[in-house]
Amino acid sequence: MEKRDKAARNHKPIRLWVHAVGIICVWSLFIVISWVWLTQVIHSGTLETARIEARTAFRNDLIYRLWNANHGGVYAPVTLKTPPNKYLEPLNREIQTPEGITLTKINPAYMTRQAHEIAAQTYGHKGHITSLTPICPQNAPDPWETMALKQFENGETEVSSLEIMDGTDHLRLMRPLITEKKCLTCHAEQGYKQGDIRGGISISIPMAAHEAIEKANIMTLSLIYIFFWITGLIGTFLSIFFLNRQIRRRHSAEDQLLQHEKMEGAMEMAGAVCHELNQPLQMILGNSEIMLLDLEPDHPMAKRIIRIQEQVKRMSQTTRNLIKITRYETKQFPQGTVIDIDMASTNDKTKK
Ligand code: HEC
Repeated sequence: MEKRDKAARNHKPIRLWVHAVGIICVWSLFIVISWVWLTQVIHSGTLETARIEARTAFRNDLIYRLWNANHGGVYAPVTLKTPPNKYLEPLNREIQTPEGITLTKINPAYMTRQAHEIAAQTYGHKGHITSLTPICPQNAPDPWETMALKQFENGETEVSSLEIMDGTDHLRLMRPLITEKKCLTCHAEQGYKQGDIRGGISISIPMAAHEAIEKANIMTLSLIYIFFWITGLIGTFLSIFFLNRQIRRRHSAEDQLLQHEKMEGAMEMAGAVCHELNQPLQMILGNSEIMLLDLEPDHPMAKRIIRIQEQVKRMSQTTRNLIKITRYETKQFPQGTVIDIDMASTNDKTKK
């Protein structure tokens, strides 16, 4: 019984540590999965920020283009950088001021190209106005733009993706340019009608700055995650450690209780034995005293009676010891374990 108890108890702490390993695995898995998920969220946030930047650039293009188209083109002085647009109708393309300055008509697309040059130099955004059927060869689409323009024909309103341009990451975003009534002044002759997709503007945002922010965010996230992960590990270890200690303490308390119960049983038994034995022993002693009185001191029987008395006294000493039992002490006999009355009835634990 005792052995089985101990086996069951020894088993528990091991199972606790197995649980701990399980908890740590689940915790680590949770950390890894949520970390991967959050880095994905951060990454798509980065892409969305770049997309917003591209959309803003596109909208700005639309605004000044509309302003230009509303005027049917605007005039600017002819310079080396701004030669007359040979694709524009020659009528009224160049005009002279009374002072003799030559002005040339700037159509929206021409203005867009020049604005894009400024944007590229100032902000690093690359803009390109293009069409599947370009009037000007410079506006011919690259393969990515061709793909996007074809998607616009199928009803798509925005195409964007992460691409490598000049060896670095760029977010490319393209939106269509729809033919409006005021565009027809110049584009009706190519057969365009109101509502047709005339082409599109693609904006390419360099990702370096965005990626640096993303890297810093992921770094912060990782540090927080490492902190949480380690806190989780320490928490698991500590709780298992304290749980183990508590279980051990409870077991030793249970052991003490068991000993106490055994002791009580032994004491009750001892009380009964004392009570039952004392009287017969007193009788033997009393009778042997009387026998001694009748005998001469040197009578051979007298010695034997004295021997009997000695043994009886030993027995009553043992019964007295029995009542004094305070601890559960055992000794081994070939027949098995028995209570060591001498050891159990003394206050000195070290006595052997
Ligand atoms: C004043 C005349 C004029 C007006 C108004 C005008 N365009 Fe153009 N557009 C041109 C010319 C000329 C070109 C080709 C040469 C160039 O790129 O400058 C062109 C080029 C384009 C291109 C580039 C593709 C290509 O064919 O080369 C697109 C896209 C475009 N226009 C869209 C529009 C839209 C949309 C409007 C109305 C909001 C509009 N244009 C209004 C004259 C005009």
